[in-house]
Amino acid sequence: MASPGAAWRRALASRRAVGFGESNARGAFGVHASVGAAGGETTTSGSAPSTSFGDATRPSARAFSTRGVASATPPSRSPALAEKFSKALVDDIYRSSFRNQTGVSLKYMMDFGAQPIHRQLMVSAQFLHKELPVRLAHRVAELENLPLGLSSKEQVRAVRDWYVESYDELKSFPKIENMEDEARFTKMIEGVMNKHANVVPMIARGVLELKMELAGRGGADAAMGGGSRSSLERTLGADLPEISQFLDGFYMSRIGIRMLIGQHVALHEENPRADHIGLICTKMSPRDVVRDAIDDARSICMRQYGDAPEVEVFGGENFAFAYVPGHLHQMLFELVKNSLRAVSEKYAESLDNPPPIRVVIAEGAEDVTIKISDEGGGIRRSGLRRIWTYLYTTADSPLLDMDGDAASAGGPVVLAGYGYGLPLSRLYARYFGGDLQVISMDGYGTDAYLHLNRLGNVQEPLP
Ligand SMILES: Nc1ncnc2c1ncn2[C@@H]1O[C@H](COP(=O)(O)OP(=O)(O)OP(=O)(O)O)[C@@H](O)[C@H]1O
Ligand SMILES: [Mg+2]
Repeated sequence: MASPGAAWRRALASRRAVGFGESNARGAFGVHASVGAAGGETTTSGSAPSTSFGDATRPSARAFSTRGVASATPPSRSPALAEKFSKALVDDIYRSSFRNQTGVSLKYMMDFGAQPIHRQLMVSAQFLHKELPVRLAHRVAELENLPLGLSSKEQVRAVRDWYVESYDELKSFPKIENMEDEARFTKMIEGVMNKHANVVPMIARGVLELKMELAGRGGADAAMGGGSRSSLERTLGADLPEISQFLDGFYMSRIGIRMLIGQHVALHEENPRADHIGLICTKMSPRDVVRDAIDDARSICMRQYGDAPEVEVFGGENFAFAYVPGHLHQMLFELVKNSLRAVSEKYAESLDNPPPIRVVIAEGAEDVTIKISDEGGGIRRSGLRRIWTYLYTTADSPLLDMDGDAASAGGPVVLAGYGYGLPLSRLYARYFGGDLQVISMDGYGTDAYLHLNRLGNVQEPLP
């Protein structure tokens, strides 16, 4: 490993290269609180999550998120952090951000949690006690070194502080030696998970402000309704590759942390549901999850349009595999919402019945693939590139009508508008070794292919 000093110099050079702005423009936007809340949560029908989720590509511009960079910003160079927290804590975080993260696989989680006897819960708690601070420290270092001045945004700093405080809480927790310690630890990490519930909308707000600032007054006016729809779309969909890379890595890490905590907490359930090991359902029927997600998405569509196109499901009868139903529900919910919106809009003025959306479930040897097809008119090829960009949306963004506190409280549940649905769904798919592809025929419709790795032995991607 390169020496910290060398890494520091490199990172400073790269900071200059990306033009670190120190702007503090304030805005008034938010994203719904449960955006990307998953990771741990098992969403069930009837309690539809609001929206969205990312892209599991490991950031290649490592200057912003690597251990190298962690070292690259010694506390003295980061006054905001050093002013707020003790030097000892900040130094400790930077040291931890040098440590390697340890990934686990779905299969490992399943084998490990198959019999959550005391000894195993202890081992799991001890692992988390060591692992979580390392993962949090990586994120703190990253949040301190974001390009284009994003680190200085108020919301990003607030999130960074949550990470620092949780790091401190974890590190201050004494060695876990007996089941009492384990129970206290479990309660504590559950609190950490709750505290971080609104990280996604907070970061989204920070990114939104940055995008508007970069777009200049024109962008802000457009966002406030003074500009044209296309200029707003351009602003929100602005291609900032380094920001996308950061968000992909950051949200992916968050999915992992929440999965680990959620799994540990769920192993404590006194009356675990049949065929469940923590959050994992060993015999998950994709058809059941598809049905729930369709019901939830259609009810939002009904609310918005007064009606909802039909959705037909093919395949997947009498077939089950091990997966996290909460994750699958979230991805399907997002994809079905997108199709419902496209079809509803296309047929809004038509006297014809809208064509049904078709969901096909295919059981392969390696993958389970779920295809969602609609005849909602497709996506223009010029827009196709941007659908994986966070905040890109062709709907009215509820973010723009929210005031400052709304982000931490969560925003309205809408059919579309946050521009997080597709990128976050892709991250969830990739987290367990799957993927998401969207293929469109402009003028006709869209097919989304959701691939899920059925063996589950792929290790978590660790940004
Ligand atoms: N099935 C589809 N048919 C037509 N356009 C689509 C479809 N799916 C996605 N899109 C386009 O891609 C954009 C981004 O989709 P994404 O789901 O990421 O965000 P959104 O739906 O706008 O907002 P939200 O985060 O609330 O879901 C949409 O605004 C829409 O323009
Ligand atoms: Mg969407």
